[in-house]
Amino acid sequence: MSDQKAKVEMDDLVAPTAGLSGGVRSSSKHDSGPKHVAGEAVYIDDIIEPYGTLHLAPGAANIAHGKIKKMDLSKVRSAPGVVCVLTADDVPGVNDVSPAHTHDDPVLPDGIVQFYGQPVFCVAAETRAQARAATKLAEIEYEELPAVLSIDAALEKQQFVAPPHVMKQGDAKSALAKAKHRHAGRMEIGGQDHFYLEGQITFAIPQEDGDVLLHCSTQHPSEVQHNIANVLGRPANAVTVEVRRMGGGFGGKETQASQWAALAAIVAVKTGRPAKFRLDRDDDMVMTGKRHDFIVDYDVGFDDDGRICGLDIQYAANCGFSADLSAAIADRAMFHTDNAYYLGDVEIRSYRCKTNLVSNTAFRGFGGPQGMVAIERIIDEIAMTIGRDPMDVRIANYYGTTDRNTTPYHMLVEDNVLPELTDDIIKASDYRKRRAEIDAFNAQSPVLKKGLSLTPVKFGISFTTTFLNQAGALIHIYQDGSVHLNHGGTEMGQGLFIKVAQVVAEEFQIDLDQIKITATNTGKVPNTSATAASSGADMNGMAARDAAMTIKNRLIEFAAEKYGVAEVLVRFVPGKIIVGDVAELAFADLIKQAYLARVSLSATGYYATPKIHYDRETASGRPFYYFAYGMACSEVLIDTLTGENKVTRVDIIHDVGRSLNPAIDRGQIEGGFIQGMGWLTSEELWWDGKGNLRTHAPSTYKIPACSDRPDDFRLELWSSGRNVEKTIHRSKAVGEPPLMLAISVHRAIADAVASVAGHKVVPNLDTPATPEAVLYAVADVAKRMIEQSGQPVSVAGE
Ligand code: MTE
Ligand code: HPA
Repeated sequence: MSDQKAKVEMDDLVAPTAGLSGGVRSSSKHDSGPKHVAGEAVYIDDIIEPYGTLHLAPGAANIAHGKIKKMDLSKVRSAPGVVCVLTADDVPGVNDVSPAHTHDDPVLPDGIVQFYGQPVFCVAAETRAQARAATKLAEIEYEELPAVLSIDAALEKQQFVAPPHVMKQGDAKSALAKAKHRHAGRMEIGGQDHFYLEGQITFAIPQEDGDVLLHCSTQHPSEVQHNIANVLGRPANAVTVEVRRMGGGFGGKETQASQWAALAAIVAVKTGRPAKFRLDRDDDMVMTGKRHDFIVDYDVGFDDDGRICGLDIQYAANCGFSADLSAAIADRAMFHTDNAYYLGDVEIRSYRCKTNLVSNTAFRGFGGPQGMVAIERIIDEIAMTIGRDPMDVRIANYYGTTDRNTTPYHMLVEDNVLPELTDDIIKASDYRKRRAEIDAFNAQSPVLKKGLSLTPVKFGISFTTTFLNQAGALIHIYQDGSVHLNHGGTEMGQGLFIKVAQVVAEEFQIDLDQIKITATNTGKVPNTSATAASSGADMNGMAARDAAMTIKNRLIEFAAEKYGVAEVLVRFVPGKIIVGDVAELAFADLIKQAYLARVSLSATGYYATPKIHYDRETASGRPFYYFAYGMACSEVLIDTLTGENKVTRVDIIHDVGRSLNPAIDRGQIEGGFIQGMGWLTSEELWWDGKGNLRTHAPSTYKIPACSDRPDDFRLELWSSGRNVEKTIHRSKAVGEPPLMLAISVHRAIADAVASVAGHKVVPNLDTPATPEAVLYAVADVAKRMIEQSGQPVSVAGE
């Protein structure tokens, strides 16, 4: 049929269908939810191990930078249970797993160690305990080289993993020179460990002809497939990667799975035995990349209303020893310098610093959070300088609808809903009244201080590397009417699989339980992009809908012809197909008839995000299909004697467009917010002077606990939400944006600290705002206030 799409179009909104169990917009439960609770969800380490399975463990360097002079592994090789020991010499193909073809991520280093904890060899043994014990027996001599362990040191040496990049609009320098007010500052932004519950793991099963099947916990099966094929020196069709689910990814499995997968694959192919590499938690924290820490230097000009008229801002990102995705991550920080605000004349510079530390990588928000936390601090500082409520300064700087609506990368903001959202959240949170109450509380409370902050989120949706915005799907319908669904997206807990299944249920008008959700597999859908950039449901939902529509259109044509009615009279309604006034068929009956009539019941689907383009040379274009918006108002309480802080109330209104699954979306928003809160308040990474990460376990690295969740947590999906673009059922991406709602927590803590000096001194509060950092900021504000005015301040102990 030449014009199949004439029958069902990828056009517009589909209203939720009454009588359908689990179509779009239903709060269907996560398909793995009951299995998670019952312990029945199969993760890679739960797969029953075939007889003869080998277990791998890494042997780590104990210097940050140096030459390997001598590596004597004889005692390792003869240790009990050891079957093979790998070094760089054992890599049969290309010794590189770099994701962006920068050739700087060796599977095992060939002579030069680049960070403390880098795996320099790998042991495969009969048991995991034997493999781990054997790694301790290595005798390695190094010639140490100078190690660069900080952003400032890398800047001084001009040592980068990728060239610096600049984005500009207008003339920032002269705008700053003319500005009525001016304020400059520096902010240090900490990194973050992904702390997924399931660490990095690959289980490699050898196949015929030296091929290999990898069960791998990765967000990017296609990249693992291609990397491992290169490492083995084989074509991509020799490697199959399968991912049923991950126990969390958060960006940490976008590129970081390949190294372990490569080593497991080499062992499996070399020995002919299944090989499992499951990193120990401490090794995982030491050996895998994290969120980039940043230093931001800024100089902002503004008028009496706090409106920004010029901004010069410089980011320096700690990329670690190799490029990984750092260039795209540092770019996304630049793209989010504006957050929600029109910046006018602006110059943004970005340095991608090379250090002798683990190579940093994707993490929920992908650089966006670092850009946004900086501009939100700048806005607060402007407000303090001119003595205005920060909310009013935010509103004064919002993008306009007809003017003041170009971003620093020359994209028009056409879908700005923040003015409406702001009205709604100001009302819902009772912001103005509570601000007055908090001021009154702080005036009479010398030790405990409250803070309040309401911050917006505008987050660009699409991979900024345009070609990555494509997805594929595969649907089979079997003779009994049951449906097999597959697509290139991966499930890491975010509910992608159930959302895509809902899209297919809606298309065929069948119950969700007729659809089998199946593991992502490079043998079924090839050349996929990572499940990342929050685009999983947008892209795979569309690709699956495309596949479903292809089959549906064949069925419509078949039924119309068979029953002699016009195609428009064939209608899919819940559970059945109505064929004019001639027949009513159960879905399974139509399928049986179509099979007997030799109609193909299998189809692939494909989607490429429209409208986007970006020219990196000129730093201009439309890198994002649309923006996701949200707002959060956080109230905190700090103890000025201990620095302890607690979030006491949160109000969130988040725009998910027309939600595909409100329950899943609420989970994403709450989880994202809490994860962001952890990044900004308690999760502190600390390396010692030798570059050795000392916070490599939950004993020293504090993620939020259940008790850190604010008791008063009010979360609404924005009732007016609708995507102006033709996304899947007009929904909006939800995976990353809510993390940045937590910036309100950091800003509320800064507000509480500033109250110590009556908001007259700008607090120097970096991230994370740990109790020590808060205590330091309080003391610093008090000291500067006394210096400035000679007046005592309202803080206990001063
Ligand atoms: N939610 C859970 N439970 N676990 C995760 O690992 N990753 C986040 C987000 N939500 C994650 C999560 C990240 S970093 C991204 S990019 C998106 O989910 C990816 O999924 P999506 O594109 O399907 O939203
Ligand atoms: N976002 C998230 N992940 C990515 C991107 C991006 O823009 N580019 C490559 N991986």
